[in-house]
Amino acid sequence: MKRVLIITGGGDCPGLNAVIRAVVKRASQEKDWEVVGSIQAFNGILWEPTEIKVLDEHTVAGIHYRGGTILETTNKGGPFAWPVKNPDGTWGTVDRSDEMIRKINYLGIEAVINIGGDGSQQISQALFEKGLNVIGVPKTIDNDLSATDATFGFQTAVQVATEAVDKLVTTAASHNRVLILEVMGRDAGWIALHAAVAGGADICLLPEIPYDVNIVLEKAEERFVKDRGFAIIVIAEGAKPKGGTVHEIKNDEVGYENKRYGGVASELKNQLKAAGLKYDIRETVLGHLQRGGVPVAYDRVLATQYGNKAFEMVLNEEFGRMVSYRHPNIVSVPLKEAIKDYNTVDEENHLMRAARGIGISFGD
Ligand code: F6P
Repeated sequence: MKRVLIITGGGDCPGLNAVIRAVVKRASQEKDWEVVGSIQAFNGILWEPTEIKVLDEHTVAGIHYRGGTILETTNKGGPFAWPVKNPDGTWGTVDRSDEMIRKINYLGIEAVINIGGDGSQQISQALFEKGLNVIGVPKTIDNDLSATDATFGFQTAVQVATEAVDKLVTTAASHNRVLILEVMGRDAGWIALHAAVAGGADICLLPEIPYDVNIVLEKAEERFVKDRGFAIIVIAEGAKPKGGTVHEIKNDEVGYENKRYGGVASELKNQLKAAGLKYDIRETVLGHLQRGGVPVAYDRVLATQYGNKAFEMVLNEEFGRMVSYRHPNIVSVPLKEAIKDYNTVDEENHLMRAARGIGISFGD
């Protein structure tokens, strides 16, 4: 029996289970393959005793519409930076990648399907360079991976954010207020941009375009006075004022190396008040609601195609590559290419042009 190992790493994302299910269903059509999954990304392999579980058709039945991941996940540590406590009580890291590869070989695993975002695919590439047969599957609600047209989970996040805008509109209109919605997006403002367009927001503030608070104020007041008696602002967590910095949250969780953002909506509220905004203003932080719950149909469909393709790549021994959607095809690209750049919002983007075309202000 040949074995393929599935890993889900990094932040969870609606559609992960649909990928797992598709790999298992596709593999079950081959007589000689068994699928196993490691619990909490690579931790399950590295822990003593090992925590991996066999994934068969029974295990994955009906999981395509469940959010999260049945394998659990983590965005702390990893095989190249395993947290260890120093004698003085501080935390450091050790590289356990060689030991992990030995364990994977010992377990008779022929190939690894690593489902994750940018950080996870950097790990995929590094493991591939050490000789492991790795295939990457792109995942992130932020849609910020450059070598694919889309990542699953994004449409679900956009739907949640759009519904939030719709809800804020009715309460903003009733109270004649300025309402700010803070959405996820550390480096890329795709969720904010899509939700602003779909929800009909007046102002959209992105990590890619530092904003001028006086322009935001002007636009909010214009919408308020001239048009409709309320204003809606969508702001990405990574947005910053011109000449200012992003609002980072200090995080002391062991092994957590990402930057944590959050609180920009509240900051913007204070900046607008200080700049002289006359109207009442409230903020809402959408947070992890964007990552949880049931994936929309689009994400389930994309995730299923990704899972199917990933297993086909195992059969064809296309290692060191990542599954990618290049409309209308599901293809594969070298992992190296996939981790080279971020996919961020730029002025040439058609949705950006449409947003500006319908009068959404970016505070610039
Ligand atoms: O990368 C996905 C993402 O949801 C970002 O948009 C957000 O900044 C981050 O993860 C939050 O991570 P955590 O779940 O660790 O707070």
